[in-house]
Formats: sequence, structure tokens, C-alpha cells
Amino acid sequence: QPIPQKSTINGHLTSVINGGMPEHYVRSLSGASTPASSSSPGPVSAEVYFASHVAPKSLPDNAEKIRSFVDRHMHEGRRVVLVTSGGTTVPLETQTVRFIDNFSAGTRGATSAEYFLEEGYAVIFMHRQFSLQPYSRHYSHSRNCFLEFMEADGDGIHVMPAYVDKMRVILEKYRETQKAGTLLTLDFVTVNDYLFLLREAAQIISKMDVHAMYYLAAAVSDFFIPADRMSEHKIQSGDGLLNLTMEQVPKILKPLVNDWTPKAFIISFKLETDEALLPMKSLQALKRYGHQIVIGNILTTRKRVVKLITHDEESEIRLTQEEDEVQHIEIESRIVPELIRRHAEWIEACGTRGECG
Ligand code: PMT
Repeated sequence: QPIPQKSTINGHLTSVINGGMPEHYVRSLSGASTPASSSSPGPVSAEVYFASHVAPKSLPDNAEKIRSFVDRHMHEGRRVVLVTSGGTTVPLETQTVRFIDNFSAGTRGATSAEYFLEEGYAVIFMHRQFSLQPYSRHYSHSRNCFLEFMEADGDGIHVMPAYVDKMRVILEKYRETQKAGTLLTLDFVTVNDYLFLLREAAQIISKMDVHAMYYLAAAVSDFFIPADRMSEHKIQSGDGLLNLTMEQVPKILKPLVNDWTPKAFIISFKLETDEALLPMKSLQALKRYGHQIVIGNILTTRKRVVKLITHDEESEIRLTQEEDEVQHIEIESRIVPELIRRHAEWIEACGTRGECG
């Protein structure tokens, strides 16, 4: 393996671990003399991870918000979905200047959250700070800056007439959601924030039993630097090559499914770049963790095609070219109703008949 020169990973380091960077590159970062191999230790257990890392300061406040949100919507008879969205970072220094990032703009999560809200679900939207969010996603980030839709004249500032109809629909939905109080947004930055927040949320939401759904669209780091091995200060560039040894992040789906929330309806995502690997990797995840659905997607086609893999079958949701490019249909508008239908079946099977297998 060629070792990347420090200059290639120095400065504002925002390399992608499992969203787009090939694994061999990650491994070469983990030290030339000790490449990850079959003899490498596996991930630490979730239990060991939580015992040896510090929870984010915002956790107690967020827990309180989740608790009152869940209590209220349980009381009002709404189903709750927890949507995770965006990528997690892995800091290289405690006082972080550099970090490794995961690919995800948050489009999948933010778009899906809107369709869940439309279908009457209460949504806990757990997202990477500054990634796309429901409703505002239509007018944020570089391609859709809201200023592009505005004009100024003697009467003040207005939305340009060509955009009014579309913006009115989005604004109305946004206001309705605000009024109903059906959207709770919580943010994370690092993989550590994500792991603690997901555990806390799951333990609170578990009281909803089969009526809760998890839609795990976030791109979660697979490797991290344990807190006790992280440099406190900015890593200096005068010392030549930078070799990093990273450990595997515990697979959080395991305790989620088995311990924290065993009766919830859980959907995870699998992102691959090689189409040939996708069915096998998705099925492997399903068997390993025992949850209900894996949604497989390929990086380059993820907005047009997804595969839904369950223990019994595999199906596909695919937009035609016309639907995608002319009608601008969002694939999430097909994914979400299908999942809601399957969640209802799960409630019937697991909740009513006790067949939770
Ligand atoms: O946001 P966009 O730009 O629209 O992109 C959307 C997406 C491509 C990021 C999304 O559709 C997607 O595929 N998300 C999952 C990407 C991913 O990296 O999967 P993974 O192979 O790291 O993890 C698979 C599943 O295992 C995930 O559901 C994750 O929640 C779970 N996981 C991952 C790591 C870890 N330590 N523990 C886990 O349980």
C-alpha cells in the first residue's frame, strides 16, 4: 500500500471514510506497518465504548426534549419515527482542527422526514449540524440559496412571481408542522455525539413499543480514534508523515435491535459503490442484526433507485427517467408510503398477534 503523503491529508481534512473513500485508503491511514487484516481486533462492544467515552454536554437537555415529545405524541395516538441524517465526523484532535468526514448531504433524511410528516407521523430528526433539514432544504445550500428566489422593489422585498406557488406549498406545510409540533430536530457532529444520542433516544422511545420506527439514513463512521489516544492539540506538520491507527466503531444496530428497542420497526441503509456487492452486503446486515428492512443504494444512482431487502423478499423502487428529470419526483415520496404500509403490517403482526420474528 502506498502511504499517503502528509500533504495529501493535511490542512482542512475532510476525507470520506465509508461514503466514498475506498477502504484500502482508510487502511493505509491506519498505519503502514499494521494494515487492518483478519488478525486485527474487531470493534469494541457498544458497552465498552460507552463506558470509555464521555457523553456530549447537550445529552441531558436532548433527552428531556425527546421524553416530552414522545409522551405527547403517544398520548395523542401518533406513531413516531426517528430519522437519522447526514454524516458523522471523526476528530483527529481533542481541540479539533482536523477531522475525517462521511459523505452525506442529508438529502435522503430531510426529504424523507417531510413525507413522514405528511403521513401523520411525529418525526425526531437527528441530523448532522448544518446538513439539510426538512422544508428549509428547498432553499438552502449552494444550489438553492433563498436569495435566488427574491427580488427587491420600492415596496420592499418579495418572492419572485415564478416561485410563489411552489414556495407557498412548502411554507404552508412548514407552518402546519410547526403548529402541530410534530417535528423535533436534534443535531450531532461527531460519531461520539451520534452514538450517545441514538442510544439515549432509543431507550426513551422504546416505551412506544411497535409503534416506533427507525429510519437510519445517516452515514456513520466505521473507524474512529479512541479518546484516550487522541492528540489534545493540533497535530504539527513539521514531523513528517502522519500515520493514524483507527479502531472500528461498534456496530450500533446490534444493541439497538436486541437491547434498547426490541419491538420497534427498524430500517437501515446500505451504501455501496459496487453494484455487485449491494445485495449480498444488504442481506448480510439484515441477518447479522435481525432488524426488519435494509434499503440498499448505490452512490451514483441513489436518487433514482433503491432496493428494499427483507428476510423474505427483495423489491425495487425505481423512478423512470421522465419521473426523475421531467416531473422531478422525489424517490422518498415512494419509499416512505411503502415503509408506512409495512410498519402497519408489523404493528399487526408483532403488536397484535405477537409474531415479532
Ligand atoms: O444524504 P444523502 O446525500 O442524500 O445520501 C444518502 C445516503 C447515501 C447517505 C443514505 O441513503 C445511506 O445509504 N445511508 C447509510 C450509509 C452508510 O454509510 O451505511 P453504512 O454501511 O455505514 O452503515 C449501514 C447501517 O449500519 C446504517 O444504517 C447505520 O445506521 C448502521 N451503522 C453504521 C455504523 C455503525 N458503527 N453502526 C451502525 O449501526
